[in-house]
Amino acid sequence: MAKLLIIASSTGKNLQLAMDIQAAAEVLGHEVDVMDLCALDLPMYTPESEKEHLGNEVIESSMSRILSCKGLIVCAPEYNGSIPPVLNNFIAWVSVQSSNFRLLFNKRNVGLASASGGGGHYVIIGMRMMFSYLGSNVLGRSIIVNKSKSLNPEAVDEMIDGVLR
Ligand SMILES: Cc1cc2nc3c(=O)[nH]c(=O)nc-3n(C[C@H](O)[C@H](O)[C@H](O)COP(=O)(O)O)c2cc1C
Repeated sequence: MAKLLIIASSTGKNLQLAMDIQAAAEVLGHEVDVMDLCALDLPMYTPESEKEHLGNEVIESSMSRILSCKGLIVCAPEYNGSIPPVLNNFIAWVSVQSSNFRLLFNKRNVGLASASGGGGHYVIIGMRMMFSYLGSNVLGRSIIVNKSKSLNPEAVDEMIDGVLR
């Protein structure tokens, strides 16, 4: 079956959300890889640090994981009405590794999910803008989990189907 990559942009509820989606995808018979961005422990991207980290093995292996998946789901918490720094930092690093900053995400199906303290809508909007700019086919329907909204299993299955289509 198709290979799904789930990116978790935090180690708490969003990693749990990533694992819940992983479990659902495995029930459907898919091969799943979960990438915990915090565990990659990447340095902060700056134009100066870019030169110091040419050929960084962690960045290169994470790029291979993205390139080898058929579909991608990104789980991220909302921070200050926007995208958390660990996700922005990761995208900055992978976008400067070749002359084509869209290399990893162009034409890739991407589903967006968030477990946030409040509504979580702003991080979804932020990720939608970023992944659309990178050329991805971002699914219209996203997944939001918060204090008043638990995970909807039907929405999970629909997202898995949508990104692996
Ligand atoms: C620096 C910071 C900023 C935050 N800003 C928001 C916010 O703007 N909107 C929101 O809904 N929650 C916000 N939160 C709450 C997080 O989204 C919430 O704690 C989330 O569960 C964290 O994800 P995690 O459990 O995967 O670490 C913020 C948390 C932190 C640490």
